[in-house]
Amino acid sequence: MEIPRHISIIMDGNGRWAKKQGKMRLFGHNAGRESVRACTEYCAEIGVGYLSLFAFSEENWGRPADEVAGLMDLLGRCLLEERDTLLKNNVRFRVIGDRARLSASLLKGVESLEKETASNSGLTLIIMLSYSGKWDILQAARRYASDCLEAGEALPLDETGFSGYLATAGVPDPDLLIRTSGEQRISNYMLWQCAYTEFYYTPVLWPDFRKTDLEQALQSYNLRERRYGKVE
Ligand code: FPP
Repeated sequence: MEIPRHISIIMDGNGRWAKKQGKMRLFGHNAGRESVRACTEYCAEIGVGYLSLFAFSEENWGRPADEVAGLMDLLGRCLLEERDTLLKNNVRFRVIGDRARLSASLLKGVESLEKETASNSGLTLIIMLSYSGKWDILQAARRYASDCLEAGEALPLDETGFSGYLATAGVPDPDLLIRTSGEQRISNYMLWQCAYTEFYYTPVLWPDFRKTDLEQALQSYNLRERRYGKVE
């Protein structure tokens, strides 16, 4: 079986999962943490290079304040509570997104875990936090424009060069993008990076997603023929 170098997941359906049980939405987000653990463990075990998880979009800042606060609090706690496991399993941790919008304490926790795991050589676990595809393309364009201003001329730019300005610079484009909960949208995720990504949708709600569901996604991925716009 071919193992994708980069798997990305749009973790969707936490709210519906909670509602089905008559619980608050945050109960679903909390339960989703177990799925994060299961996927991370499995990806590390089978030798996936990068696992990126869409944890919070730029648009998610518009959710009710208590849900946003609860999610940020959950993420902060995860950083502390999962630290030892990540270190023990040689996982490199990274956060990609608009860091300017994160609280000082969350940012501190993120930076410290990134530093501590920087030399780990196993799976790279990327949490996409305060991230959106259009935000990323815009910030890249702004940084390129600023470099041009500084240079006093329009600097040459090709696709590889532009990728280097994206927040995901250095991370290979996702080979496989999984979205749970039956929704079939890209929702302003890695718009540039998903140009040739294989998409896999499953009706399973994120808190129920486990190793067997990931195995099914990998089986489907292995049946695909990736042509990148060419023939055969
Ligand atoms: C989407 O479900 C999920 C989120 C916006 C948050 C994802 C966060 C976690 C799974 C928490 C743990 C994460 C890490 C990285 C440790 P939704 O709220 O949109 O669900 P709905 O569509 O059913 O309302």
